[in-house]
Amino acid sequence: MPPDAVGGAARDSAHPLLAVDGVTLQYKTREHLVTATYRVSFKVYSGDRFVLLGPSGCGKSTLLKGVGGFMRPVEGRITLKGHSIERPGPDRMMVFQEFDQLLPWKTVKQNITFPMLVSGRCDRAEAEQRARSYIDKVNLTKFSDVYPHMLSGGMKQRVAIARAMAMGADILLMDEPFAALDALTRRKMQEELLQLWDDVRFTMLFVTHSIEEAIIVGSRILVMSPHPGQVKAELNAHQFGHDNLGGEGFQALHGRIHNMLFAERIEEERARHG
Ligand SMILES: Nc1ncnc2c1ncn2[C@@H]1O[C@H](COP(=O)(O)OP(=O)(O)OP(=O)(O)O)[C@@H](O)[C@H]1O
Ligand SMILES: [Mg+2]
Repeated sequence: MPPDAVGGAARDSAHPLLAVDGVTLQYKTREHLVTATYRVSFKVYSGDRFVLLGPSGCGKSTLLKGVGGFMRPVEGRITLKGHSIERPGPDRMMVFQEFDQLLPWKTVKQNITFPMLVSGRCDRAEAEQRARSYIDKVNLTKFSDVYPHMLSGGMKQRVAIARAMAMGADILLMDEPFAALDALTRRKMQEELLQLWDDVRFTMLFVTHSIEEAIIVGSRILVMSPHPGQVKAELNAHQFGHDNLGGEGFQALHGRIHNMLFAERIEEERARHG
């Protein structure tokens, strides 16, 4: 895929899929008022692999809660297709880590039809038809009647994404889905995710605090400052596979983001040591 194909021609800059506009999110506890994000703005377009990157506590998960409709901004607005987000909905689906997201006693197809049926979103015939179509899209046709324990991590991830899309998700929300995995498995899951994106072109909002993961997974990266989270910069990332990890482009972007994230600390050090 050419590096600039991401979102390019299909992008309608007047109509972002998701717009986060000057959003401040706070937690109120009995003693404290915690400002988790301060006036954060970004736009996600259809087909973006949009990454929120920043240090622990900068409000990445809180932003996902805002987009998910679990928290209301105290300032600013979050809109999906131009409509204010007021509550959770099937148009924004959280995709969790592989282990806890599939029901082990249901087959691949049943895992995908189940939420459509329980939510009353469609009748059985339609649910089955949608499930079949998304199972084909994610290349699991042969595994339709198999139980999750017989699938690899990457295949489970594909089932979870197919399930979210069959429910009608416009955007997939992923909060550090690979954080608990060992380095090799993590790489494999990142590659699988990119491969699936190449095949299906879904839109995702992906949270990580790993610069490397942000560059591998992201087509656009929002770099956030430490608590309370503000936007430091927004960058375009070309698609770097693991093959390019040592390459110049990758290293340059990595260095640039590293400097951004640690700029204040580096300045402090410099000042201290004259
Ligand atoms: N339920 C809560 N009540 C009060 N404060 C909270 C709550 N959840 C998070 N916070 C605070 O809000 C800020 C942002 O937290 P958040 O979990 O969004 O950070 P994060 O960027 O996802 O961090 P990490 O990378 O560690 O997951 C932090 O200061 C955190 O302590
Ligand atoms: Mg978090």
